[in-house]
Amino acid sequence: MQIEFVTAGPMEGEALSAIAAPVFENQTLGSAGEALDGASGGALSRAMGSSRFTGELDQTLDIVAPAGLHAARVVLAGAGALAKLDDLGVERLAAAAYHAVKSSGVPTLELRLGDLSDSQAARAALGVRLAAYRFDRYRTREKPEKKPSVTKVRIVCGDPAAATAAFEPLAALGDAVSFARDLVSEPANVLYPEEFAHRVKQLEALGLEVEVLGEAEMTELGMGALLGVGQGSVRESQLAVLVWRGAEDPKAAPIAFVGKGVCFDTGGISIKPAAGMEEMKTDMGGAAAVAGVMHVLAGRKAKVNAVGILGLVENMPDGNAIRPGDILTSLSGQTIEVINTDAEGRLVLADAIWYCQERFKPKTIIDLATLTGAIVIALGEEVAGFYSNDEALASNLAAASTAEAELIWRMPLHKPYDKKLDTLAADMKNITGSRSAGSVAAGLFLQRFVTNKSWAHLDIAGTAWQSGPGAPTIPEGASGFGVRLLNRLVADHYEGK
Ligand code: BES
Ligand code: ZN
Ligand code: ZN
Repeated sequence: MQIEFVTAGPMEGEALSAIAAPVFENQTLGSAGEALDGASGGALSRAMGSSRFTGELDQTLDIVAPAGLHAARVVLAGAGALAKLDDLGVERLAAAAYHAVKSSGVPTLELRLGDLSDSQAARAALGVRLAAYRFDRYRTREKPEKKPSVTKVRIVCGDPAAATAAFEPLAALGDAVSFARDLVSEPANVLYPEEFAHRVKQLEALGLEVEVLGEAEMTELGMGALLGVGQGSVRESQLAVLVWRGAEDPKAAPIAFVGKGVCFDTGGISIKPAAGMEEMKTDMGGAAAVAGVMHVLAGRKAKVNAVGILGLVENMPDGNAIRPGDILTSLSGQTIEVINTDAEGRLVLADAIWYCQERFKPKTIIDLATLTGAIVIALGEEVAGFYSNDEALASNLAAASTAEAELIWRMPLHKPYDKKLDTLAADMKNITGSRSAGSVAAGLFLQRFVTNKSWAHLDIAGTAWQSGPGAPTIPEGASGFGVRLLNRLVADHYEGK
């Protein structure tokens, strides 16, 4: 997708494009819409008059070849009440305009934003960028006429140089979200732990330091929990360590992100039912989000020190796989009786979190994981669960969530459920044995490996993958959930401090 910012004025010698303009509530045209309406002898007003389009956010009205205009179509994009139009609203209206004409045959979408600011123009660009994401690497027979026709977006604004500058960090965010979405979309025969590590190694080009530990190094360290999960797979387990040093003091304690990277989760010997198992290629969504966060921090040269740790394994049933009843010794020294081999994410995270704390002494540690089916039952696909031992971090996360529209809801780490993880044979077991409060139990399990005073855990099992079309900026499939949220958290609370 090619995106450019321009000043108003006709573009000569180009194929006819679609022109989009915002319309506010009660069919109130913005200044760009007014001009188009005038030039077309009132075609826009007439079209609105004979439709149910009111100008509410997410609505669009597509007008084909209006007389008097040098345009293939005009798309009216609902913007709601002007006073309430925030950055997210601008992203949505631009994304909705894109969806309205993406397959119409026009190659170019011109967004005429009228009175909106240059920074809002940049937001519109991000909206289109996120909306236009698709994973079509393996669609070899898709006819060209079935693919989106819009490949170029021209955004008309007051000061293109200012809009271009404002778009720079947002473009980095768009790239990072796409990177995370690609990782989640890839099938597990392509994206196994070594390939995942290889792809994040490419991020060195952005200035990140990337280190990859294999099974020999992890055995040496004593990561028995993570290695236990991977031992039934012919693919080698990996631990990827990404470091971004952007703070003035390169030695200042970093903020750390830890991701569950189960490239495929069959459940292991406690094997999952066949129906829907293909979705378990997304069980590395936490690691993908962490990779995405590191991507955007480096991409926009954030003034922060940050670390990303990815625990990359494949959970397979095999003659060498761990069995229910097996006892693993984690890197922390704590022993774990594996009651159910399908509760593997917490085993991977236990070692990755411990390693992160020991090596980097982070000021804050946040883990992300597609950890439990229970959180999907509780909160669905639109809201992730989060847990924290730090009130300030919890409220900062909640604020970042609202600002980026990546919704989260805090869940409790109440003590009575922790006791249920005790077992006779070892220091703890990996499940309580009851399905109730399954996501809470997983959070409490992780907490047994957290020494950090400021920690949060995000259970993104429901939000990492969208099974149908959702918000205009989040197409069906991999959402990249977490990248925007944590980028915002860093920008608002950890940079330049
Ligand atoms: N990867 C799954 C959780 C999951 C479920 C992710 C649905 C995405 C969508 C996890 O490893 C798992 O299997 N959890 C079990 C835990 C149980 C055995 C205690 C679950 O939630 O059923
Ligand atoms: Zn599992
Ligand atoms: Zn899993």
